[in-house]
Amino acid sequence: GEVEHPISKGMAISTIPPQFNGLLSPENFDLYQYEGFWYHNFYLEGVKLAQKQFKAQPTDIILCSAPKSGTTWLKALAFAILTRTRYDFSSNPLLVTMPHDCVPMLEVDIVQNPGNRSPEFPLLSTHIPFSSLPTSVVASGSRIVYICRDPKDAFVSFWHFIVKVRPEIGFLPLEVVFEMFCRGVSYYGPYWDHVLGYWKASLEQPEKVLFLKYEDMKREASVCVKRLAEFMGHPFSSSEESKGVMEQVLKLCSFENLSNLEVNKKGRHRANTPVAIENNTYFRRGKVGDWKNHLTDQMIRRMNHITEQKLGSCGLTF
Ligand code: A3P
Repeated sequence: GEVEHPISKGMAISTIPPQFNGLLSPENFDLYQYEGFWYHNFYLEGVKLAQKQFKAQPTDIILCSAPKSGTTWLKALAFAILTRTRYDFSSNPLLVTMPHDCVPMLEVDIVQNPGNRSPEFPLLSTHIPFSSLPTSVVASGSRIVYICRDPKDAFVSFWHFIVKVRPEIGFLPLEVVFEMFCRGVSYYGPYWDHVLGYWKASLEQPEKVLFLKYEDMKREASVCVKRLAEFMGHPFSSSEESKGVMEQVLKLCSFENLSNLEVNKKGRHRANTPVAIENNTYFRRGKVGDWKNHLTDQMIRRMNHITEQKLGSCGLTF
């Protein structure tokens, strides 16, 4: 059936080759809507369980993001910040374990096995939108770190990702996935609503919600990582600063370093589940502005327009 989303109301539908019209349905992507957001079935079950079971602690630090916004990078950085005194940089677990296996995901790893959460290690991650977070997260005053990204790059990254992870759908032309994404139909989408929820929360409670942008992190990594460490309650001391510990964290977590590690080139994530995936899927280009190589002028205008409409008025621009 035809998908209606407020985002697309009154907006010209982009030119999808007619033979692909049949692909334009959430069912085709195995997506289901829940509390205003679209989920793959595997994750939706976990989201509902998390809402029912999860009891957040005030000490929890929850890394939140919409998919393809820089989650992998944020997980690596937060993990390296937290473990920098436990391991030296030649033996950090990140060298042999992919970042998603270093930080448990709430709606998968934690709901399936609460033992994946340990009191000495307060980090966890989720893609759940702010409005659907288990109520104990806000009530307990857990800290939240959100990373977002220019929707155009998040979309391009998402297209490459879905083509790779859902080969059974058949080839998905960029135009089709673009249309779906703009209508809000993407994993944990609408993308813009996801960003907006956390952006507003960060304005209301800046001491509880740190809002980061992928583009800022690429441009001024050290400023962002310093702020991240402070927010997490593990600031770099002046002796660490003079020893270049922050630079070592950045180097360990850089795209170049992580993407060239054996574990991230060859390993598999969530092997033996319906969402098993090659680790290298999480390391594609790691650049700002790859949308210029993929989107037509019409697509760029359309996405910029949605971003301006949904986020611009709240003071968020890319
Ligand atoms: P591209 O597809 O544009 O290359 P997520 O981690 O939320 O799934 O997002 C994936 C995106 O982050 C991919 O973007 C990926 O290449 C990029 N990425 C992964 N690790 C990174 C790192 N260490 N530094 C910068 N970008 C990284």
